[in-house]
Amino acid sequence: DETSTSASGSAQEPAAPVGAGSVKQQISNLAALSLRATVPEVDVEPIVEVCTGKFGDYQCNNAMGLWSKVKGSGTSFKNPNAIGQAIAKNLPACDVIESASVAGPGFVNIVLSKSWVAKRIQDMLVNGIKTWAPILPVKRVVLDFSSPNIAKEMHVGHLRSTIIGDTLARMFEFSNVEVLRRNHVGDWGTQFGMLIEFLFEKFPNWEELGSQAIGDLQVFYKASKQRFDEDAEFKDRAQQAVVRLQGGEEKYRAAWKKICEISRNEFDQVYKLLDVQLEEKGESFYNPYIPQVLEKLSSQGLIEESEGARVLFIQGHQIPLIVVKRDGGFNYASTDLAALWYRLNVEKAEWIIYVTDVGQQQHFDMFFKAARMAGWLPDPKEKKFPKTSHVGFGLVLGADGKRFRTRSTEVVRLGDLLDEAKSRSKSELLQRLTENGKIVDWTDEELEQTSKAVGYGAVKYADLKNNRLTNYTFSFDQMLSDKGNTAVYLQYAHARICSIIRKSNMDVEELKVSGNISLAHPDERVLGLYLIRYAEIVEEACTNLLPSVLCEYLYNLSEMFTRFYTNCQVVGSPEEPSRLLLCEATGVVMRQCFQLLGITPVYML
Ligand code: ARG
Repeated sequence: DETSTSASGSAQEPAAPVGAGSVKQQISNLAALSLRATVPEVDVEPIVEVCTGKFGDYQCNNAMGLWSKVKGSGTSFKNPNAIGQAIAKNLPACDVIESASVAGPGFVNIVLSKSWVAKRIQDMLVNGIKTWAPILPVKRVVLDFSSPNIAKEMHVGHLRSTIIGDTLARMFEFSNVEVLRRNHVGDWGTQFGMLIEFLFEKFPNWEELGSQAIGDLQVFYKASKQRFDEDAEFKDRAQQAVVRLQGGEEKYRAAWKKICEISRNEFDQVYKLLDVQLEEKGESFYNPYIPQVLEKLSSQGLIEESEGARVLFIQGHQIPLIVVKRDGGFNYASTDLAALWYRLNVEKAEWIIYVTDVGQQQHFDMFFKAARMAGWLPDPKEKKFPKTSHVGFGLVLGADGKRFRTRSTEVVRLGDLLDEAKSRSKSELLQRLTENGKIVDWTDEELEQTSKAVGYGAVKYADLKNNRLTNYTFSFDQMLSDKGNTAVYLQYAHARICSIIRKSNMDVEELKVSGNISLAHPDERVLGLYLIRYAEIVEEACTNLLPSVLCEYLYNLSEMFTRFYTNCQVVGSPEEPSRLLLCEATGVVMRQCFQLLGITPVYML
């Protein structure tokens, strides 16, 4: 099929030599043709990887597997090496591959043609980085991320979910996949009875309240909780309020809406700072769908009565998944089942991705299994899509190794956190500019924008660069350092590239069309090759839902650029036109990485 990814790329005709799909995908296409010619009797998927050794750029690793399939079946091949030789020989003649050689038990090492690599880069410079979008096997994805709870704290865990989810969304969108960015806010549940009653009590004029009037919603939540715990009469009223709200009583609906609106306002401020787009479809949205979804599951015989609750027993789990509580109410799991049903059947998503802390893994594991039991999702052994994935992440730790908290308060205000990153990067910047005597060149506006880009970018990058499953330690000092794998270091690296281009007297725009990239020096070739790997990196990051893969690429790219720049004179050399184009291409790719990571690139630092 046309949409398979590189590793599973099936026998389609090779794409245009310069054009759609990652380089790995194109090599896979060529390898598929060769495999078909080499062993027509066996149907295999090409296995193509980047070379780890120095004998090639990519390698095709099918020979050994094929050998175990064909040996003893009267094949004319004597050993895996012979199969490798045949694969190498049968690679179609084209302008992509310069040469292919075979090592050991049949590894086919493929060397890319320098002129093809150069052409691919130049093509991108002329036609834009979008021409380097990978081809992914899905068209529509639901990405469920951020998803804080109304009137409760939006904690650093939600910040992580927001940052990771947004990057995943950006990577899919870049790859031409439609992304439904869903904010599954916790806007339904028994806590609303208490909140509503407290609102009536504290603000008799609640209907006229502006969105800021209640003040801090978390404080409001705590106060109402205290009232709930201490006063039996209030508790009683609160419990009745839940019933009246769920029964759809006008006044209670209106009060609920008001509270949600105030919360939403607070969340939106953080999203605005982070430049994150989300569409809210909270838990309440799926509430009307729950009865019919449970009815379906029931008619399939999947739901049982257990200790007064209605539950689903799931293989491999001791405790069942509760879908109707003993009091008859629905819960997190029933809401998630209805939401999944909706996403599959109404929104027709092929991949539904949930970004939360790893602590919720069991919940997701269980309800994914329930969906599979109900036949909503195919057996993963038979079909890949539709599918669900839980993108779990670890805790954010403070310097003390404990769960991250700011100063004395138990909660971390996300806005304050971002503010602090900005003001710290501003004072660093001011100091540097003063030392260099450059302070006069900067307007206040430029200072503000730059420190915002650097500060916010640092917070995001510090989070994204880790393997998301591991806990990470939040440290302003570390993330704002200009050394090591930090956003600040990368911003400097990028700004330096921009300054090289500014210093040259040549017109890069003009060069893109008239100039030629040569890649004669080994460090030029290494850089060029790494640049064109961009598409397969995005492809890998999307396939495995790992933003850290993109961070690692960005960091390596800037290191490779440094090596190139140290060993290859750019401005004033005979190779200036070609090398300037390499600088520009590196700048374009770095900016695109920044963009996917939600970081604003800085051009001057
Ligand atoms: N509101 C939940 C929390 O704060 C996260 C929701 C995640 N999405 C979902 N469909 N369960 O933990």
